[in-house]
Amino acid sequence: MSAGNIASSPLPVIAIDGPSASGKGTVAALVACELGFHYLDSGAIYRATAHAARQGGIALEDEAGLVELAHRIELRFDGVEVYLNGAAVGDVIRTEEAGRAASSIAARPALRAALLQRQRAFRQPPGLVSDGRDMGSVVFPDATLKVYLTASAEERAQRRYKQLIEKGFDANLTDLLQDLRDRDTRDAARAAAPLRQSADAALLDTTSLTIAQAVARVLRWYREGLDQAAT
Ligand code: C5P
Repeated sequence: MSAGNIASSPLPVIAIDGPSASGKGTVAALVACELGFHYLDSGAIYRATAHAARQGGIALEDEAGLVELAHRIELRFDGVEVYLNGAAVGDVIRTEEAGRAASSIAARPALRAALLQRQRAFRQPPGLVSDGRDMGSVVFPDATLKVYLTASAEERAQRRYKQLIEKGFDANLTDLLQDLRDRDTRDAARAAAPLRQSADAALLDTTSLTIAQAVARVLRWYREGLDQAAT
């Protein structure tokens, strides 16, 4: 395993990037729990910012307005709940529509820059597991371990479908698959921090893995890296 940069990292970070609905959030949260590390769901920051823009009447194309908003909003995480200016928004920001809005504002380089420090502030002792699109490439380029976690589009659509139905939301598999493909294309094609596997990230294809297997793989890579750094 050559991913990451164990020896020189001041505080360990495991950066897990990948496309929508790949399961990276679930895996990242479980790895964090196992190691007793903090967890950052960076997608929730983009989703909550897009939600705040809607609430504040700021157009998703208004980059200067979004930047000003990004500096102004108060965001707090408590377990799976997300608080935007004190109000719980965990459910409203997880809809497909909120995902599309997040993906739209996430293409704005000035907004990404405005959210950088907010994300880096999560790097606290004893360590951090973060998931997103640019955790290893931009936000934590010196991450201890970088993982690119993916699965086939069909498998991801199935997983998202199950998740939505379990939560009592309406869902249509064909629409979900199209939506995922559109979002992948937009996230990969944008100029600012596009979604792609960086050269120093380890590929984890979870199409035929269980969550537990994916978590075990990440933990093994992390521990092997620590062992290597110690010898
Ligand atoms: O991961 P999640 O689906 O919650 O992210 C929502 C959207 O936010 C993504 O489609 C992507 O456009 C954007 N995002 C990003 N960079 C991140 C995390 C999310 O551009 N680090």
